[in-house]
Amino acid sequence: MIRVEQLSLNYENQLVGVTELPQLSWAMASDFRDVFQVAYRIQFSLENSFATLLYDSKWVVSNQSSQIELSQSDIPLMSGQTYFVRVKVKSNYKEESKWSSSISFVTGILNPSEWISDFVSGETRKDKAESKSTLLRGTFFIDKPVSAAYGYFTAQGLYKAYLNGQKIGHDELTPGWTSYNKRLLYQTYDLSSLICQGENVLGAMVGAGWYKGKMGFLEERNNYGEQTSFFGQLLIRFTDGTSMVWGTSKEWLVHAGPIVFSEIYDGEIYDARLERPEWLTLGTASKYNEWKKVNLVEVDKNILVSQPSNRPKINERIAVQKLLTTPQGDIVLDFGQNLTGWIELQVKAPAGCRVELECFETLDKEGNVYQANLRTAKEKLVYITNGNGIETFCPSFTFQGFRYAKVSKYPSKPKAEYFTALVVHSQLDVTGHFECSSPLLNQLQHNIEWSLKGNFLDIPTDCPQRNERVGWTGDAQIFCRTANFLVNAYGFFTKWLKDVAADQLPAGGVPHVVPDIITGNPKANEDWLLSQGTHSAAAWADVAVIAPWTLYLAYGDQAVLETQFVSMKKWIDFMGRHAVDNIWNYKLQFGDWLALDAKEGSYFGATPNDLTCTAYYAYSTGIFAKVCKILGKNQLAQSYQKKYEEIKATYQQKFFTPEGDLLVSTQTAHIISLYFNLIPTEWKSKTAASLVKLLQKQNGHLVTGFVGTPYFCQVLSDNGYTDEAYDLLLQEDFPSWLYEVKKGATTIWEHWDGIKEDGSMWSPDMNSFNHYAYGAVGEWMYSNILGIKIDEQQPGYHHIILHPLINKHLAYAKGFYKSIHGKIIIAWKYLQNDTVELRVKIPVNSTATVYLEKCREIIANDGVKFSKKEKMPATEIPSGEYTFIFKQN
Ligand code: BGC
Repeated sequence: MIRVEQLSLNYENQLVGVTELPQLSWAMASDFRDVFQVAYRIQFSLENSFATLLYDSKWVVSNQSSQIELSQSDIPLMSGQTYFVRVKVKSNYKEESKWSSSISFVTGILNPSEWISDFVSGETRKDKAESKSTLLRGTFFIDKPVSAAYGYFTAQGLYKAYLNGQKIGHDELTPGWTSYNKRLLYQTYDLSSLICQGENVLGAMVGAGWYKGKMGFLEERNNYGEQTSFFGQLLIRFTDGTSMVWGTSKEWLVHAGPIVFSEIYDGEIYDARLERPEWLTLGTASKYNEWKKVNLVEVDKNILVSQPSNRPKINERIAVQKLLTTPQGDIVLDFGQNLTGWIELQVKAPAGCRVELECFETLDKEGNVYQANLRTAKEKLVYITNGNGIETFCPSFTFQGFRYAKVSKYPSKPKAEYFTALVVHSQLDVTGHFECSSPLLNQLQHNIEWSLKGNFLDIPTDCPQRNERVGWTGDAQIFCRTANFLVNAYGFFTKWLKDVAADQLPAGGVPHVVPDIITGNPKANEDWLLSQGTHSAAAWADVAVIAPWTLYLAYGDQAVLETQFVSMKKWIDFMGRHAVDNIWNYKLQFGDWLALDAKEGSYFGATPNDLTCTAYYAYSTGIFAKVCKILGKNQLAQSYQKKYEEIKATYQQKFFTPEGDLLVSTQTAHIISLYFNLIPTEWKSKTAASLVKLLQKQNGHLVTGFVGTPYFCQVLSDNGYTDEAYDLLLQEDFPSWLYEVKKGATTIWEHWDGIKEDGSMWSPDMNSFNHYAYGAVGEWMYSNILGIKIDEQQPGYHHIILHPLINKHLAYAKGFYKSIHGKIIIAWKYLQNDTVELRVKIPVNSTATVYLEKCREIIANDGVKFSKKEKMPATEIPSGEYTFIFKQN
């Protein structure tokens, strides 16, 4: 029987705060093979029962099951409304499915003219040096039965909102981090279950956060403003058909709160004695004598943008694994996992006692607390008791990157059960799973997943612990392909890419970090690095083109190309304007950042910038030409294609001999020449052979940095060196991915030698233990060990290429990727020495080409015909489950 599973709206299973009709996609399941959809029917209703319909598409003859766009004129939206959607389908077996489970979406505010509330503040600009919280409150009266209520909230700073004493929603660190003065996100909540007839209290606590706290390694505060403010608006619908809008105004009251200090890097100080019990409760006017009227802050409401999904949340809770006493006598909590979030603590003590925790990532060689790599970030939580029984605390406006915490103060003997780690990251559906016979490789995959969790906190960050934690564009560019296998990152990245576009310089330059807090910052001129440039580095700025392209390939959705088109074009044209005779280079370049072939003490790898920059210039221009073609801009497509060919020709002339020998003898130069397809086919084998020689020279070790590492295994396996690719990935000595694993890493390190063989540390000035960049090899594990590949001609896994590099280095590998068409499952194992079993599952409405790697004889073909393709048996199969058994060479 055909079933609709996984109905989604803009790839999410719920959206709260949409301002445009979302597109629909669904996956289907069936017990048969070769199933495709022949028709669909969609219904919209304002009730979950669908008793009355707002829209019925009736049967639409179509095999399209993703990115279904309906017309806003068919389903007119209004602000503050919950809509329900369901779908049913017919298959080629003449079956009709049941209705899918319904999913809902809630609208935000559709028209800026509907904003009537004010931004209210408990601070003035004189408080610019303060990072304390303020408590705000307002009351309103409801005199008739409510049918539904919605709230819209944001802040300049960070906020937590409460209705009648209850925290609104489960989100944390709202409104996240965007280019605040251009795009300030608001969050929408359904308040129907919290609102009551009679008097209601809306309260908010506001902190400094990314908005006005100290941010960036320039340690500048007030990057966006000098005073925090809060904005809230409620839309209340009554059963009699009328409605009311109410929100923050000059009537609101403010008082200082218990958070006396809170900042992203340094942690939080919470004095529970300063809590105000009257804040969120009802009380007579006399209780508020010490409360002041708020100040109003002028903010252009046109910058308010809804955030309907992917908001940060507490996703997991982890207990203390070990309570240890270090050789130096410190009491340390070990959570067993390097993570990003908070510690929740419990304490029972008289008023005025202190609990102090200092978070950090690793112990040193002797087993003592190691905080030096945090640089100036304090990562400290301080709680002062109020003496009211058992007190539970977790911070609000900060986050820590840590595995360990030193208990520097506790009023009695601390016990493990008093502390829990709360894992905080953007809400993202897990889409990938990987497992194989190597426990070390499984741990590497685990580490990659945890570095994603640790660094996808509203924006993609470089690291979550030291005084940095910013949206370094290069790190995101390198990792986005892997991220797309692990989680549904569509909404997360498209949100951030809008800030990439918003912060792009008028001439097209792309900032090194987004949101951009360095360009134009006077302190940048004094910094040894940033004084050389704050934008437009190869591989970093190219995120503007590569990330939208990566999303397009994984989802087959042109919308992201359309939305980012201007930004992409501006970046390509910027490079074009600054290139001299097609060789591009510009001010500060990071090159093959952190490569081990760097000069002693330098961060810059040995591959020359002219080469790295020009390679990326060609690569991005080539992608952009394809984007133009996809969007039907044929003339532009032709001219950028021509440009791409020209850059390639120049690249070959400048960096290769006429015979096709690469003049630069670094691993990375070889890798990108091959991966970016910058050389003629006939030069490829000698370039690959020369790369393998360089690898052998290092005894099978990589010496690559940010630019070369992500594609190393890929270019080896693409060019006939699959064994070498596996050897490289499975290398256990320094430098290698598994070296870190064997050193006990639970996330990916920034440096290959973060902890050296003798147990000493790389310089503390740049030594993060949670830096996903080198985790970009995760893509190779999914697309080559599991073999799940995208067909560029039919992106979004409508047609899948399954080419697992089944190889004796592993006894088995299995996993899945949950595509927008459904779960693609793959599992292979060696039954005997040379006999392999390969099982695959292709989702309904998709097809796949399956390759049998190194097959010399098919033992069981499961009823499927194979023919020769690329020197091995291959087959085209429709949806269903298949098991093949074959013998390898
Ligand atoms: C960050 C990197 C970043 C780099 C730029 C570092 O401080 O942590 O990951 O990409 O600077 O070179």
